[in-house]
Amino acid sequence: MEIRVVQGSITEVESDGLIVNLLDGVTSPGGATGAVDRALDGMITELIRAGEISGVLNKTTLLHTGGKIAPKRVLVAGLGKSDEFDYAAAAKAAATAARFLREKGARAITSIVHGAGIGGLNPRDAARATVEGTVLGLYRGDLYKTSDKEPGEMERFTIVERDPDKIPDIEAGTREGHILGDATNDARTLGNEPSNTMTPAVLADRARQVAQNTGLEIEILDQQRMAELGMGGLLSVAQGSTQPPKLIILRYRAGKDKPALGLIGKGLTFDSGGISIKSHEGMHRMKYDMSGGAAVIQALRAVAELKPDINVVGVVPATENMPGGSAFKPGDVIKCLSGKTVEIITTDAEGRMLLADAITYAIQQGATHLVDIATLTGSCAVALGNNITGVMGNNREFTNRLMEAARLAGEKVWELPLPPEYKEQLKSGIADMRNLGSRYGGALTGGLFLQEFVEGIPWVHMDIAGTAYMTKEEAPEAADSYTELGATGVGVRTLAMLALRLAGR
Ligand code: BES
Ligand code: ZN
Ligand code: ZN
Repeated sequence: MEIRVVQGSITEVESDGLIVNLLDGVTSPGGATGAVDRALDGMITELIRAGEISGVLNKTTLLHTGGKIAPKRVLVAGLGKSDEFDYAAAAKAAATAARFLREKGARAITSIVHGAGIGGLNPRDAARATVEGTVLGLYRGDLYKTSDKEPGEMERFTIVERDPDKIPDIEAGTREGHILGDATNDARTLGNEPSNTMTPAVLADRARQVAQNTGLEIEILDQQRMAELGMGGLLSVAQGSTQPPKLIILRYRAGKDKPALGLIGKGLTFDSGGISIKSHEGMHRMKYDMSGGAAVIQALRAVAELKPDINVVGVVPATENMPGGSAFKPGDVIKCLSGKTVEIITTDAEGRMLLADAITYAIQQGATHLVDIATLTGSCAVALGNNITGVMGNNREFTNRLMEAARLAGEKVWELPLPPEYKEQLKSGIADMRNLGSRYGGALTGGLFLQEFVEGIPWVHMDIAGTAYMTKEEAPEAADSYTELGATGVGVRTLAMLALRLAGR
């Protein structure tokens, strides 16, 4: 889809549909919506009065313009209440409107920037939200449907702004929104691919393509190299599968002597649980267990395009967790890359084993700050549901920076504690640690396990087990969310925004 910004009057730029907006409770619209209302002889005000147009978030009302203005149709998109308005609301309104117009057959649409000046949103961020929401809203997850596909793609999205002074900011935000939206959608596709088409080798190939397109450096370690280095954590999980594991490393270099942000993503292309096999119910969803890895690959791609002045290294350990004849077993003791030994209590707590090695590897590569992102524990999903990612960290300032980046990116996070006294649960009689704590507080012992490998550098752990994908049964609110059903691409925008913020954007 082509995305552009033009300076002019929204009533004069031709399109199949023009999107304007309305806050909940407003009875006589001002600004651009007011201008359209006047050009349509007060039709919008009249319909508000008749109770037919509502400003409720995600509500849309379609009007035909009968040749009174250049656009064939006007869609009034609800922004919700002004005191509840934020970045995500602007993006959602844009997503809903674009999806609605595509269904009506529109192929080229125009829009105003949603929400500039409301809820503290500046024009640049409002433009980013509008474009990002549009790109995310138009995503399709029907990768392998051969029939019943909704026909037609949106071809052009044009933001129209009257004030020439605002154009540079709106252009900057539009570019950012386009990049972040595309990167998030590509992470969603990686996640939505089933495990038979998304093996560790395929994930590595996709990362190679990203590197080729963006100029990122890439290195892929194979099983033999992992063995030479001593990556027992990653290798132990991989050994029950016939698919060879890959360690994917992507590097973005802004220059020497810059801090280096290390991003680590769990790349489990399928988690059967291994010998501690999962119940069949919902096991098909474990194709999404590489969503953290997808987020890291696509965050690096966004970083390569946005070019912040900071070094970033992405590390994605990719493997399946399968109960093959040579699979690791409960009771096994594994030596990780760091030298620490771990007693396996359950082979289903496999994520922490690969992340441990990836964390050590990122530190060896010179990372000064670390963020890992992983579908780590069902416990986190139980605690926070499907729309809020759990974060845990070892450094107040760095955790705050990540949470601020998430807020600016329109992604919800909530901090969970890392209680030192719970470390007792990870003690083993035979090895340095065991890989399982108590059933209660499982997200926290997951975080505490990882903390043992970060060697005191600033680190944040993001548990996306609840937020990596949406299903209708579990999250009916997903139906009107801008990431819809399936993989959400969660984390791409937060991680990219963190890199930008650390570099001073
Ligand atoms: N991949 C799962 C976690 C998960 C659960 C992701 C639900 C998405 C939705 C992870 O490897 C796992 O199996 N975790 C165990 C941890 C436990 C054994 C400590 C879990 O959640 O039960
Ligand atoms: Zn897993
Ligand atoms: Zn597991």
